Amino acid sequence: MDINNVGVIGCGVMGGGIVQVCAQSGYEVTVLEINNELLNKGLNAIKSTLSKSMSKGQLSQEDCEAVIGRIKGTTEARDFGHCDLVIEASSENMDLKKRLFAEVDRVCPEHTILATNTSCLSVIEIAMATSRPEKVISLHFMNPAPVMKLLEVVRTVATSDATMEISRRFGESLGKNIIVVQDTPGFVVNRLLIPFIIHAISLFEVGLATKEDIDIGVSLGLGHPMGPLRLADLIGLDIVLQITEYIYEELKDPRYIKPMLLKKMVSAGWLGRKTGRGFYEYPQ
Ligand code: CAA
Repeated sequence: MDINNVGVIGCGVMGGGIVQVCAQSGYEVTVLEINNELLNKGLNAIKSTLSKSMSKGQLSQEDCEAVIGRIKGTTEARDFGHCDLVIEASSENMDLKKRLFAEVDRVCPEHTILATNTSCLSVIEIAMATSRPEKVISLHFMNPAPVMKLLEVVRTVATSDATMEISRRFGESLGKNIIVVQDTPGFVVNRLLIPFIIHAISLFEVGLATKEDIDIGVSLGLGHPMGPLRLADLIGLDIVLQITEYIYEELKDPRYIKPMLLKKMVSAGWLGRKTGRGFYEYPQ
């Protein structure tokens, strides 16, 4: 089966990035949001990223218009009726994801593959909300999705070989390197990343070093593009907390016990870049 039409649920940071990378790779994309305000916000963010690429001379005006022309926004799930693949990038809430998958399952043709971009949740649990668990998979993009070269392709016990193969080819067509991962809490990347980030938060909390020095230590000492506290701000502290709590709940592994500072910052609404304040401040 060839994928031509892609549906994306959610046009926030991850959904918008996925829409952009799919449209730039030549796919027709329909993106679903819950209302027009969020839809316009997400579409404007994509246009702004594309304009930056244009002003850097990386994208011609003609190509930019063609990419934008391939993106259609909607607030109705029934507009996914022609999609060959739907990628869900909504909040990390199992009940919400199950509801969305059940709805998309009803409106999509039999051949459509349904993918979740969940960072950690059980993919088989989401799949069982549909009538096609063999066609459900996780395509886990990294943030920022248009830039990061990795795609975690997560297979459940029910995912068919055909779904895996089509998904792998799709990921490669986006210019991503694929790793295949079993359906386990946090998959590979977050299973490794979360203990690292929360350890950095704990060290900052006890005053081992300033946040800047912790980040410089990691970026210059280990060659990471950004330090763990700045990265937590990029991912979103609420997301880091949700992933941490979920993995701990599932595995009861003490490496995933959340630092109190993380919980307090999320309670204060300091969620990182998206709210203008996290470990650092981000003037909007
Ligand atoms: N959308 C699209 N493009 C973006 C972008 C975004 N949100 N943010 C940055 N870019 C592009 C820039 O336009 C720029 O492109 P060119 O090189 O073509 O000009 C390029 O990325 C580099 O950006 P900057 O020069 O502004 O800044 P930088 O060199 O510091 O790079 C970064 C920014 C790409 C975010 C880099 O710091 C980085 O790679 N950081 C680590 C990110 C990371 O680890 N992500 C994974 C998080 S884990 C995850 O996502 C899993 C999960 O479930 C939580």
